[in-house]
Amino acid sequence: MIDVNEILKQLTLEEKACLLSGHKSWHTNKVSRVGLPSIFLTDGPHGLRKKKEGDKVAGLGQTELSTCFPAACTSGASWNRDLLYKMGVAMGEECRYYGVSLILGPAVNIKRNPLCGRNFEYFSEDPLIAGALGTQLTRGIEDMGVGTSVKHFACNNNEANRYFGDSIVDDRAYREIYLKAFEPIIKEGKPASVMCAYNRVNGKYASENNGLLNGVLRDDWGYEGLVMSDWGAVNDRVEGLKCGLDLEMPGDIGHNRQVIIDAVKTGDLSMEVLDTAVRRVLEIVSRGTDLKPIPDGKFLSHADLAKQISLEGAVLMKNEGRALPLDEKDKYLVVGDMFERMRYQGAGSSLLRPYKLTTPKEAFDSHGVNYDYEQGYNVYSFEKDPSLHSAVINKAKNVDTIIFFGGLSEYAESEGFDRTTLSLPQNQLDLLGDIAALGKKIIFVMFGGCPVDMSFDDSVDAVLNMYLPGEEGGESAYELLFGKANPSGKLPETWPHSYADVPFGSEFTKTTNDRYKESIFVGYRYYSTFGVPVKYPFGYGLSYTDFAYSNMQIHRDADVVTVSCDVKNVGDTYGAAVVELFVGAPKSGVVKPVRELRGFEKVYLTPGETKTVNVVVPIENLRCYVNGGWKLESGSYSFEICSDATKVILSDSISIEGDSINDSEIYTALYGKGKDTFLAMTDAEFDKLIGRKIADPKITRPYDLNTPMREYKTAGGRFLYGLLMFVFKTIYNFEKSARPSPDKETKVKNAYFGWQTISAMSLRSISYASEGMLSHKLALVLLDIANNRVLHALARLFKPEKCVKLPK
Ligand code: BGC
Repeated sequence: MIDVNEILKQLTLEEKACLLSGHKSWHTNKVSRVGLPSIFLTDGPHGLRKKKEGDKVAGLGQTELSTCFPAACTSGASWNRDLLYKMGVAMGEECRYYGVSLILGPAVNIKRNPLCGRNFEYFSEDPLIAGALGTQLTRGIEDMGVGTSVKHFACNNNEANRYFGDSIVDDRAYREIYLKAFEPIIKEGKPASVMCAYNRVNGKYASENNGLLNGVLRDDWGYEGLVMSDWGAVNDRVEGLKCGLDLEMPGDIGHNRQVIIDAVKTGDLSMEVLDTAVRRVLEIVSRGTDLKPIPDGKFLSHADLAKQISLEGAVLMKNEGRALPLDEKDKYLVVGDMFERMRYQGAGSSLLRPYKLTTPKEAFDSHGVNYDYEQGYNVYSFEKDPSLHSAVINKAKNVDTIIFFGGLSEYAESEGFDRTTLSLPQNQLDLLGDIAALGKKIIFVMFGGCPVDMSFDDSVDAVLNMYLPGEEGGESAYELLFGKANPSGKLPETWPHSYADVPFGSEFTKTTNDRYKESIFVGYRYYSTFGVPVKYPFGYGLSYTDFAYSNMQIHRDADVVTVSCDVKNVGDTYGAAVVELFVGAPKSGVVKPVRELRGFEKVYLTPGETKTVNVVVPIENLRCYVNGGWKLESGSYSFEICSDATKVILSDSISIEGDSINDSEIYTALYGKGKDTFLAMTDAEFDKLIGRKIADPKITRPYDLNTPMREYKTAGGRFLYGLLMFVFKTIYNFEKSARPSPDKETKVKNAYFGWQTISAMSLRSISYASEGMLSHKLALVLLDIANNRVLHALARLFKPEKCVKLPK
């Protein structure tokens, strides 16, 4: 047990400054003089990615084996709070087994645009789901005594510009959509820490955004835990501290330790602010130190849990003529590289080494399925392989049913870059098209973390979307295909017909100023309200059985509305239904979506069974954020039990007394006049809504540490950027051509992620994410080179950098 007050008293200013940053990526700093140890923290968020003890490689290197749970795209589709809690407990157990005190997750950013490369790691386009599931995951982990770090706070909704982009959001969308997902997690999940995002939010880096950190998080929500930076997200260290950022990660930036000391000495930074931040670090170290290791990682029972989550998160998107489930007595032609090389987890910082892995092929074999297999395409290529392709066509001619395994690989979607198209890889589409031309029955089993253009599905009979199902994905696919389990996942995001339908999609990441012009009309809130047809709506998902809903009742108490209904399984298979409760709020003075998800419950029923389901909606969740505050608009509220965001099954309304409120004129003019006016919104109009003219992001010379390196136009700058890209590309090619080994695939994927990520960084973000390998001084030397000031660079190189040493 650490006596935080006592240690705080004993620490010197230098030691305090050191404690405010991490060490060697995954540790806090220790101060042996006062008996303060360090703790270990690491990724998250769908399982533990722990660097192996003793591995000398910087950053990640070799990682321990751990359970690869389904990524949030799958667990989000389960709509099952209990499973997320259990997943949290299991992750907490593995953390304790490996001596990890804090795990970096959950990740709950809103899926604003389907092309965001990191959508797989997030739960939903809807803040209620993201908040509810994120809360349970947090609770589960924290209940095991392990800390969490809910991330990325806030508005980190693209990858291309994540290091320097500015997410420009109006107040209403900020509160009702983007912050809303975090709020219950903070208030009910009580995470040990919050990780601030890389990007700017309304002009200021999240890591030094007073309104976001001190304002919303601490003042409004009463958060008392620690705020850490994302890896390399610090910009101005002292400003960050003043604005509520406590811990810099990954740390080892001598310059930033020194500026803290200097700022205290000059009086720019008060001792009180410093001590508050140090105290928060001491508190998580104290918690971590008290944590007793457990002797068993329980990996086999966790594998069962991972399977359960993937069974519940798989979404049956199409089932023409009840093509599924399949009969095990028949023989099938199985096609697609993903049968053997299943995509089961995301890519980037969440990529881990699974303890157990069951591919669909292994599952089919272990259950004795009668099949013939053709690879068809290479999962790591977008190009057609003529011989693989024609081998399928030759065999397909002689069979009735083809099970096609396809989807997106880590080269199509990953942390670190955004997708450029909604389409599946062309080699898979070509193959599907040619098989379809033979008129055979096709069952498409899909892996991938986000929506794809499904126009091809007219030619397939069934689509089973596994998303990224984790280590037991193959077993789950088998059980769902052959009716051993019944799909019950519901899409936590809209699947549009095409990217052209995505509001302001053509502007996504085109400039580093990301104007969130759609405001609160994100995902289904846009499509349903503005009458835009979609391919598969939010909340949609089929089952092998049918459900009937009846007897809807609404009961109003002082603080909550309880809506109940009876759900009956009217088919002949055990299954689960989700009661999705949407509310259409009055729109007298304020523009609102036609309906918004306000509650959900999942219910499990045997054939013929009926259960009454209650969905409780706190009245405060019916409020909207207008004119600087939360207001409940008076009027009639329509409560709708839906099968998805477009289909109302039962509805009734009640009147609720609240305030008489009005939108600002500009909000009504932009959002209340129909789709054409909405989509015609200019930058200037949006800026008027925001209340300031947003300057174009201009690259000025001399460049500074925050200039995106890809924008360098000088000879020195182009040389530097070219060299960097060359080095990272070479590492990738080296890993790709290395001899086969158990780790090869992971290494290749990580190298690809590194290469893609680096292309979107600035010298500041590279330096501050580098664990001290690129010191602040060296970053400035390189900057001099980029500014063609070679002599300056040389002079700087030989000038010693003043920075305090780490305590022993
Ligand atoms: C990611 C975080 C992650 C961190 C450490 C960052 O690049 O954005 O989500 O926790 O790296 O790996």
